[in-house]
Amino acid sequence: MIPDVIVDHPHLGWSVYDLPTPAPLVDLNMLDANIATMAAFFQNRPASLRPHAKTHRAPAVARLQIAAGARGITCAKVGMAEAMVDGGIDDVYVANQVVGKDAIARLCALAQRSRVSVAVDDARNVAMLSDAAQRYGVTLDLLIEINAGMDRCGVLPGAPTFELATTIVGTPGVRFKGLHVYEGHVVQHSDGAVRKAETEKMLAIAMETRDLILSAGIPVPTVTCGGTGTYDISGAYPGVTEHQSGSYVYMDPGYQTKVPVFGLAFSVLCTVISRPTPETVITDGGLQVLANDSGMPAVKGFPGLEYAYLSEEHGSFTFVDGSTALPVGEVVEVYPGHCCSAANLHDQVYGVRQGKVETIWRATARGKSQ
Ligand SMILES: Cc1ncc(COP(=O)(O)O)c(C=O)c1O
Repeated sequence: MIPDVIVDHPHLGWSVYDLPTPAPLVDLNMLDANIATMAAFFQNRPASLRPHAKTHRAPAVARLQIAAGARGITCAKVGMAEAMVDGGIDDVYVANQVVGKDAIARLCALAQRSRVSVAVDDARNVAMLSDAAQRYGVTLDLLIEINAGMDRCGVLPGAPTFELATTIVGTPGVRFKGLHVYEGHVVQHSDGAVRKAETEKMLAIAMETRDLILSAGIPVPTVTCGGTGTYDISGAYPGVTEHQSGSYVYMDPGYQTKVPVFGLAFSVLCTVISRPTPETVITDGGLQVLANDSGMPAVKGFPGLEYAYLSEEHGSFTFVDGSTALPVGEVVEVYPGHCCSAANLHDQVYGVRQGKVETIWRATARGKSQ
C-alpha cells in the first residue's frame, strides 16, 4: 500500500510562493482550529462526531479528526471507505445505498477487516446485502435512511420504516443498527432560524419513528444525521447519537457565511498569468482545479477582486475597487466555491504552516466514487 503521507517529496520545506501552480493548500493552523472547535462542541455531549470524508478524501485528515475524538468516519461510497480503512481508520459508515454487485462484495470484504455500517432504504437491497454478507462470513450493520424532508433517498417515516426494521431484524448476515436522516435540504439555508426550525422538524419525525421501533422491543442504538451548517442544532438534539459534518474541516466562502466559527483552511494557489485590462485578473486556476458547482470562489486578501467566471484552465476575476495590484507573475490563494468538489480534483495537498510546506498528504479517496 502506498503511504498517504509523502515524506520524501522535493517540495517539503519550500516556501509556498515557490510551488508550481495551481497548487492545493491546507492551512494547517486553520485546519487544527476547525477540528478542535468541532471536537470541543461534541466533547461532553451524548452525540459523537463521525465526520464525512467527502470533504478532504485524505486519511491523514481523518486520522486528525479521530485523534481529536471522532468515533469513526462517514463515507459516501465503498471506494472512499476502502481508502479510509487502508489509511488506518477502523470504523466506517457508508451513508449511502450500496446496491451494485461489485460494491456489495467489496463492502463485505471491507467488513472482514474493519467495522462497517451502511445505509439502506429498500428490502430488496437488504436481501442482497444479507446474501453477500453470509457468503463472506460477516455481519453488516444497517441503518435505515428515513426521508423526513430532504426528498433524496430514504423510506418514509413511521410504518414503512418500522416494517423495514422488522425485516432487517429477521434477516441473517445483517443487524439493525439504527436510523439515518439528513437535513441536506436546509443545511446551508441562509436564515439560521429556518435551519433550526426545519432541522428540528425533521428530527422530531425521526424520533417518533425511533420510538415506534423501540416500542416493539427492537433496540435503536444509533440515530445519525447532520451537516456543518446545523452542527449546533442537530448535534445537540436529544436522541441524536452521531453527527456527520464534513465541510467544517476545510470550509468555503459561501458556507462560511452561515457558520463563521469555522475558518477557510483549503485554497488553491494560482498564478496571475494575464492582465488583459486594468480591472481584469486572469489566473491559471480554472474549473479543473477549483470546481464551482456551488458558491463562488474568492481570492484571499483581495475583497475588491470579484469572481467573474472559470473556464477549464483559467480563472477570471475583476477588480471593483480600482486596485492596480497583482501584476503578471504574482500568486494568489483562491478559495474554491465548494471545498469538497475542489478537493476531489487533487491527488495530493500541501499542508502549509507559516508560509512553508510542512507536510504533503495524498487524497487517496480522490475520485473513489465506485
Ligand atoms: C449524508 C450526508 N451527511 C453529511 C454530509 C456533510 O455535510 P456538510 O458538508 O454540510 O458538513 C453530507 C454532505 O454532502 C451528506 O450527504
